[in-house]
Amino acid sequence: MHSQQNCSADDNKYSALNNIIDLYKHKEGNLIQILHAAQKVYGCLPLDLQQIIAKKLDIPLSKVSGVVSFYSFFSTQPRGQHTIRVCMGTACYVRGGKKLVEHLMKTLDVDLGGTTADGRFTFEVARCIGACGLAPAIMIDDVVYKQMTPAKLNTLLSKF
Ligand code: FES
Repeated sequence: MHSQQNCSADDNKYSALNNIIDLYKHKEGNLIQILHAAQKVYGCLPLDLQQIIAKKLDIPLSKVSGVVSFYSFFSTQPRGQHTIRVCMGTACYVRGGKKLVEHLMKTLDVDLGGTTADGRFTFEVARCIGACGLAPAIMIDDVVYKQMTPAKLNTLLSKF
């Protein structure tokens, strides 16, 4: 798991980054590959790490940052061990999705897009996740949970 890692390029980890860059340096589309590999090692891609990559590849930092912010699978913040996504598609929204969002913000003490202080959960919203018939739905990691209520959610979360 990367979630609990300290998301910064500390000294011990520079060597890993150098290896990654050396490995991909001469390949086509190398920036994305390097960023992928670096995120795998460091858990996320904070600015100091982007700076090192830009310097080593001899490209502007703005180019690295542009790619990181363009692709949603790159993250500059450490992520939680699990990702909770509440569906805010129309069906879920009208059948209680909004209540679930408010409930989670209060229970987990976290804002949208944020990660809990204990590093367990990152909290996001999603568009329709294909379970409209049994709305409201949420996802935790890759699993969809349907007909959710705040009470059911409490029980579910206690299992993680
Ligand atoms: S709107 Fe939520 S699953 Fe479709």
